[in-house]
Amino acid sequence: MPSSRLNLTGLDPAVPSVASALGAVLHDDAGGRWVDWEAGVWCAGLGHQHPAVVRAVSEQLSAVGHVGYRWTHPVVEQAATRLAEVAGLPDGRVVFLSSGSEAVELAIRLAHAVTGRQRLARIAGNYLAAYGAARGPGWTELTERTVEHRLGPDVAAFVLEPGNASGTVDLPSRDLVESVARGVQNGGGLLVVDEVTTGFGRTGRWFGYQHYAVRPDIVAVGKGAGNGYPVSAVVVSEEVAARLPPDFRHAQSHQDDPAAAAAVLAVIDTMQRDGLVERSAILGQRLRTALLAVAGSAGEITEVRGRGLMCAVSLRPVDQGGPAAAEVQRRLAAAGHLVGANPARNCLRLYPPLVIGEEQIDALAQALRGALA
Ligand SMILES: Cc1ncc(COP(=O)(O)O)c(C=O)c1O
Repeated sequence: MPSSRLNLTGLDPAVPSVASALGAVLHDDAGGRWVDWEAGVWCAGLGHQHPAVVRAVSEQLSAVGHVGYRWTHPVVEQAATRLAEVAGLPDGRVVFLSSGSEAVELAIRLAHAVTGRQRLARIAGNYLAAYGAARGPGWTELTERTVEHRLGPDVAAFVLEPGNASGTVDLPSRDLVESVARGVQNGGGLLVVDEVTTGFGRTGRWFGYQHYAVRPDIVAVGKGAGNGYPVSAVVVSEEVAARLPPDFRHAQSHQDDPAAAAAVLAVIDTMQRDGLVERSAILGQRLRTALLAVAGSAGEITEVRGRGLMCAVSLRPVDQGGPAAAEVQRRLAAAGHLVGANPARNCLRLYPPLVIGEEQIDALAQALRGALA
C-alpha cells in the first residue's frame, strides 16, 4: 500500500514497522526483535515504555494534561524545582517547552535579551537546533586549532554542546571549553549549554558540562528529559532571571504543560532511585572496552571514543579500503542491532538506553566482529 507519510529524513527504515518497544528492545509484528542502540532519537534513557513514565503521564493526562501557560499546576512547580537542582542551578528558574530546538532557540533569545548583544560563539560542527537562530548567520565558529579565541566583550553567549557534535562524539578539550567560557563570562556574556542530547545521564554525569570546570548561566534540555514524551526545558540561573528585561515575552501552546512536567519528574525520580547516571558511566566504560577489544582484532576500526553511554566508532575511510559505515549498519541490523551511522565521517553511533544490559553489549561486540569480517 502506498504510504501517505512524507519522509524528509533521507533515511530508509531498518525495521519495516515497529509494533512495540520495551526497555532497549524494539519488536515488529512478525516476531522480529532489535536492540535499539539509538534509544529512539537518543531520548529513551530509561528504556522504551518505562512504567514509571507511562504511569505518571497517563495519570496526569487523566487529571489535566494541558491547561495553558497562564495557569500553573503543582506538578509543574515540583518538576521545575527538581530540574533546577539536578541541572546545577538550584536557585534557577525553569520553563518547559516541547522540543530541544525550541529550548535552544529560547536560550539564545534570553541571552540576547539579557546582554543586549548579538554575537554568538559555538564549537564548529555543533548541531544546536533544527531551525532559527542556531541555523542563521553571525556565529563565530571555534575549533581546537583556534589558537587565540578573540572573543571580545561583544559576545552575547558561548553556546556549548558538550560533546555530542551531531552524533559524531567529538569531545571538546577542557582547554577550549574552559578558556572560551571564562573569556565570554568575564566579558559580560553568558555560557549557554545545550544539554539536549548530553543531559540526563547520557555522558555518565547528570549533564555533559559537568565534565568541565564551568558554571553555565542557562541550560537547555530535551530528549532524555521526557524519555520519549516530547518535553524540553530551559533552566536559567537566578542572576539571569533577575536581569531579564521586564517586557521580555515568550509564549507557546505547550509551555509548562502538566503532562510534560509529570514525565520529567518521573524521569528524575527514576534516574535517582535506580542510579542510572552511575550506571551510564560504568556501562559506558564496559561498552568502550568491548569495542576496543573488537578494534584490537579488526583493523577496520580506527577509533573508539565516548563518554558514558555516548559512543562513536570510526571506521577506516572507504577510500583507504575501509568498510562503509552504512553497510556495517545494515549488517548489524540484520543481526538484531540498530546502530546509528554517519556516512560523511564513516563512523557508527551508539547512544543506547541507560538500562542497556551487559549481555547486550557483549552481543553487539560479537555482531560487530561478524559485520566487519
Ligand atoms: C545537541 C542537540 N541540540 C538540540 C537538538 C534539537 O532537538 P529536537 O530534535 O528535539 O528539536 C538536538 C537534536 O538532535 C541535539 O542533538
